[in-house]
Amino acid sequence: MNLKDEILKLKEELDVTLVAHYYQRDEVFELADIVGDSLELAKKAKQTDSQYIVFCGVGFMGESVKVLSPEKTVVMPKVACCAMARMIDEGYYEQNLKIINDAGIKNEDLLPITYINSSAKVKAKVGEMGGMVCTSSNAYKIIEKGLETGKKIFFVPDRCLGQNFAKQMNLKSAVVGDGTNLADADVICYNGFCSVHQQFSVDDIEFYRNKYEDILIAVHPECDPSVCDAADFVGSTSQLITYISELPKEQKVAVGTEFNMVSRLRTENTYILSSTKPECPTMNETTLLDVYDTLLSIKNNNISPEREIFVDENTVKYAKIALQRMLEV
Ligand code: 13P
Ligand code: SF4
Repeated sequence: MNLKDEILKLKEELDVTLVAHYYQRDEVFELADIVGDSLELAKKAKQTDSQYIVFCGVGFMGESVKVLSPEKTVVMPKVACCAMARMIDEGYYEQNLKIINDAGIKNEDLLPITYINSSAKVKAKVGEMGGMVCTSSNAYKIIEKGLETGKKIFFVPDRCLGQNFAKQMNLKSAVVGDGTNLADADVICYNGFCSVHQQFSVDDIEFYRNKYEDILIAVHPECDPSVCDAADFVGSTSQLITYISELPKEQKVAVGTEFNMVSRLRTENTYILSSTKPECPTMNETTLLDVYDTLLSIKNNNISPEREIFVDENTVKYAKIALQRMLEV
């Protein structure tokens, strides 16, 4: 039997749901019971009855499932780290707050919002301060809700997402440490970014616009604001999929997000908005063999502690508050 059949057989035998983000390799993606963007995966994994969630994605995604459903066993075939999520920890969070305080803004005048691409510990910090989580599909709504408090938003860790949504909402944004005026801003962004989405540039957009007169450009909001400004559509992975699937077949589109997902979108008239192959290195790490080994370890009751997601009780308490505030909105 080949690896794919072995995996299917083990899935049938076990009380398991296999979950995969859109950026996973095709061979892993095809076997998943649930696929989706970060928001959909957090919601759907929580709703399953399975005791075991085998999550093919990056660490913060598995952690979000564990925080929302601590009673489930969450196992990741590769606990791959999102480079952006690693740009912030509790220490950097506090350090940034201090810089903001030094600019004359008190904590009680700040409402923190963390992009879901952050650790459970950072989510807990945000939850403790009365804040919420957001994803790329609901950031507009969450920021809008946050502004109802009359406070400034402290947006972590993705400066691009913060700046892009602030612009869409006609708000002023600033970035901690880049010399912009914090006191004047409605949205104060932490200076983190996604190294994969930084690869798309305005030059790439010009290249495709010069090559194909009527081409459309669709990008993820983790791209630089200059790229989002020059695009025709900006959306989360799910929103990009819907937008592109509704285009007429002959409409050309160049897409600024991860390569595995773009290559599955349409067979024709779809281009990656880059001269390189922008794969998310960590998402790309999970192989069929990792999935097989993980399922086998569940069957044999010897799951490696390196693969299982554990979040301590206090972190679960506050990170859950931040995630639930998002789900309620
Ligand atoms: P989505 O929530 O749009 O799936 O994005 C997750 C991500 O990490 C994109 O880089
Ligand atoms: Fe993180 Fe970027 Fe990979 Fe998304 S594409 S998981 S933001 S490193």
